Amino acid sequence: MIRVTRKYRFSASHRLHSAGLSANENAELYGKCNHPYGHGHNYEIEVSARGPVEDRSGRVLDPRILNRLVEEQVVQPFNCKNLNVDSAAFEDVVPTTENLAREIYRRLAVKWTSVFPGPWPVLEKIRIAETPRNIFEVSEYGKS
Ligand code: NI
Repeated sequence: MIRVTRKYRFSASHRLHSAGLSANENAELYGKCNHPYGHGHNYEIEVSARGPVEDRSGRVLDPRILNRLVEEQVVQPFNCKNLNVDSAAFEDVVPTTENLAREIYRRLAVKWTSVFPGPWPVLEKIRIAETPRNIFEVSEYGKS
């Protein structure tokens, strides 16, 4: 069994602000991340899949298929976007990177079996770095 990881990037802006809290509560809870005009990040994501090495190809997966999936489901929808405004997923959900990681995992998981119809590879984990010091992971064992 081999784990394959590919890296992707996108840039997006967000503001941490909960509609259910007052202005003061938001400022207290999120600090500078609650700044009214938001701020941007250059997100780096890693998508990990696991499976046996196929005899015919000598590979676990076709990287072109994974690239197309991640481009369509993650990079294009989020790149150069304001997550609070441009993504339906964050209409009622604060776009913390924890929640962004869950949304990215969900988006890949929903389409996974249509692009990889066999038993392998399985989507194992996504990892997203908001900054070099803020890194978040979602695995197949912790989808929620
Ligand atoms: Ni931020």
